[in-house]
Amino acid sequence: MKYFLDSGKIDEIRYAYENYKIDGVTTNPRHIMDSGKPFLTVINELAEESRGKEFPISVEINPHLKKAEDMIQAAKQLSPISDNFVIKVPCNEQGLIAAKKLEEQDVRTNVTLVFTASQALQVGRIGAKYVSPFVGWQEAAGVDCTQFMQDILDAFANFGFETEIIAAAIRNGQQIATYAAMGAHIATAGLAVYKDSFEHPFTDKGLKIFGDAWDQTEGN
Ligand code: E4P
Repeated sequence: MKYFLDSGKIDEIRYAYENYKIDGVTTNPRHIMDSGKPFLTVINELAEESRGKEFPISVEINPHLKKAEDMIQAAKQLSPISDNFVIKVPCNEQGLIAAKKLEEQDVRTNVTLVFTASQALQVGRIGAKYVSPFVGWQEAAGVDCTQFMQDILDAFANFGFETEIIAAAIRNGQQIATYAAMGAHIATAGLAVYKDSFEHPFTDKGLKIFGDAWDQTEGN
């Protein structure tokens, strides 16, 4: 499974790339806002940071855009800034039309805010680069998304779709493991989620036990 970092903060992205072997980045307007910097500043920093690497970075167009033609225009302004940019468009009728036309013109897309398998199916049919089922938001509200993900995996396998499935808005290590076991291609989560997923209290307890033994052994 590939790990993408959900962030608009360059220091976090650099840290995760250097230390966690992160494979790419997903941003959204909330992550850009959290960076505390203007939109274009972050966009240019992301382009610069990924220069010379194969490192896909999903950047989201203005969420207020309603028409496919306006989404396409916004995408075409962002896309040339970096070879690594993948343009995030919303999963509604106009967003799917925009994604279809962008992919036909070799602009890679990540169709975001996907909450049903029927939405995902159309993303696969039009050949978008990525589909982002938001499992984390629904599971935070108590909805088990494993059947949702399984339906997407089955449908994509049935028809040989090449679109990569991103288990999005991941909030904990169990979700990463669950969706990895099911076969989702990518997880995207914040830095703190990955960090927590590498830790366990029993690992700490074991270190204490072994540390005490070490201290009580002659010659150490
Ligand atoms: C993914 O592409 C989305 O930006 C993301 O997973 C949403 O996560 P958030 O709820 O942490 O913003």
